[in-house]
Amino acid sequence: MKCRVCRGPAVIDIRRHNANFCADHFLRLCRDQVAKAIDTYEMLRPGERALVAVSGGKDSLAVWDLLVDLGYHADGLYIGLGIGEYSDASGEFARAYAARRGLRLHEVDLRADYGFDVPTGAKAARRVPCSACGLSKRHLFDEAARCGGYDALVTGHNLDDEAAVLFGNVLKWHADYLGRQHPVLPERDGFPRKVKPLVRLTERETAAYCVLRGIDYLVDECPMAAGNRHLGYKEHLNALEARAPGAKHDFYFGFLARAADRFATDAARERTALAPCERCGAPTTGGVCAFCRLQERAGGAAPVELTRKAQP
Ligand code: AMP
Ligand code: FES
Ligand code: ZN
Ligand code: ZN
Repeated sequence: MKCRVCRGPAVIDIRRHNANFCADHFLRLCRDQVAKAIDTYEMLRPGERALVAVSGGKDSLAVWDLLVDLGYHADGLYIGLGIGEYSDASGEFARAYAARRGLRLHEVDLRADYGFDVPTGAKAARRVPCSACGLSKRHLFDEAARCGGYDALVTGHNLDDEAAVLFGNVLKWHADYLGRQHPVLPERDGFPRKVKPLVRLTERETAAYCVLRGIDYLVDECPMAAGNRHLGYKEHLNALEARAPGAKHDFYFGFLARAADRFATDAARERTALAPCERCGAPTTGGVCAFCRLQERAGGAAPVELTRKAQP
């Protein structure tokens, strides 16, 4: 197996590019793919300040590393979700990476700062954990970006993630979600710009990137996500990809190029007028925002002991 660029020994094959790469040229490919995504979708301009949401997993550490190497000012944001040992370990990986590279990491802890954690919040609000978790993360990402004066909030969503979300939205014909599924959401009504620079890389590639760069990351998946719908969609898409390399790329980028605009009016129709939350000031559709309501319901609840299958 030889590197497509230098003909030296290759360390990875990428079937959708029909090519193999040595370590150096693979790392360069990752950098080029991220630079191309940033450029094509106008995610970040030189000199802008980015806040990278880091979970301690491979994707968010890889995107942080790549942005810093591409010369962007990128600070990190870690949110302690209170999901037992999983959260303890994820925080340690995020901190260790920041310390090693001398980068700034902001930390927010749901339990210490807001009086509840994801398992307790989910039970109190009768939501599935991923829903209480997603709601809390989105709220805290927005707040941290706004308060810190950042130009954009960066997440580590990769091609597998985005193709799986698209697959789910198409299966259910969620026209308004389809109208909002884009690697860049512009700043609007008090929400920061949100960008996903890893959309041109798969999770296999971000894992290989971390290994080759010597970045230690948390391999375990969240124990509360086991069996969730998106994991099932990913399995189906992986089966398609194995038979037809490039299928995932074509599905997602074909949608962006030829279909996404057609759903813009559906997304706009759903966009109701926003006003500041009466408690926290975050933009919301009315009265008290969903995060403050979750906090209120979960605040007085007894903490939920986390077991391996802690689904409500
Ligand atoms: P997930 O929702 O777990 O698929 O994660 C999607 C993205 O959200 C990750 O790539 C990170 O950028 C970010 N993220 C997930 N968990 C955390 C966390 N605990 N703290 C900060 N960012 C996170
Ligand atoms: Fe949010 Fe698992 S990371 S429920
Ligand atoms: Zn090479
Ligand atoms: Zn609020």
